[in-house]
Amino acid sequence: MKTEVTVFCPATVSNVGPGFDLLGFALENPGDEIVVRRNDIGELRLINESGIDLPMDPSKNIASISAVSLLEELNITDGFDLIFTKKIKPGSGIGSSAASCVAAVVGINEILGSPFSTPQLLPFAMEGEVFASGSYHADNIAPALLGGFTLIRGYDPLDIKHLPFPDDLYCAIIHPDLEFKTKEGRELLPKNIPLKTALIQAGNLAGLVAGLTTNDHALIGRSITDVFAEPIRSKKLPEFEKLKKLTLEEGALGTGISGSGPSLFSLCRSEDIATSVAELMKRHFADHNIKSEYYISTVSQAGCRITG
Ligand code: HSE
Repeated sequence: MKTEVTVFCPATVSNVGPGFDLLGFALENPGDEIVVRRNDIGELRLINESGIDLPMDPSKNIASISAVSLLEELNITDGFDLIFTKKIKPGSGIGSSAASCVAAVVGINEILGSPFSTPQLLPFAMEGEVFASGSYHADNIAPALLGGFTLIRGYDPLDIKHLPFPDDLYCAIIHPDLEFKTKEGRELLPKNIPLKTALIQAGNLAGLVAGLTTNDHALIGRSITDVFAEPIRSKKLPEFEKLKKLTLEEGALGTGISGSGPSLFSLCRSEDIATSVAELMKRHFADHNIKSEYYISTVSQAGCRITG
């Protein structure tokens, strides 16, 4: 029986324009690594080797909250060490909390001899996300766990569908040096949506799913529009509409806020286009005296995985 595993969990883009709380995809990079090790003290112990501040109290650490929910379901009182090497910055909008939660449950499940299938781990991983964001949503958790594009058709009961997607998609992610907290980003949103707005969003989500599954790049592009959250959240990003327009002129299929931000994503048809779009976005933020870093990644078919 294994006593230690290394787990890699990818960053993810959620919402993807019109799919608020319903759609997300996994990136090839960046990602987090967690070493999970059985210990003999009968407690969860957190060790941070990330160089990034993380809550070290297990009752406030989202990975340990997810781990405890899995262990309680199995009535297991064994102790585990969770050793974090995080590369995904908390508050960046590319699924940092989801990666921690998913990696913890995948690692513990592996050490326990896989009592749960991979999809069965989803509700446990979501427990930590609920603590982080104050709401039950899986649009980062599902692609982090399962890879690819995942659609959450419904939450009660959870009904998740893996979507096919074109194999030439590259994603440019820009992370401006700002921190948006998902909890706060959700509190800004209206509780009710006018019918006209709901119709626009539903049409775009249906269009995006249709475009992904039929390799219709133009349809993907014109469907990446969010009329729910982006108009509100983008107010904190300088000249957002202008930047979005420039990325489309540079060749991006579509650009939007990744999750609750501040990172932006652009889906593109080649690595070269994604790179020039990322450079353009970097210059834009530099013009506003905001430092930023970018990543270029394919959409990853693989989700969280054991690497050692
Ligand atoms: N769907 C979520 C939101 C993603 O937009 O608030 C962030 O976790």
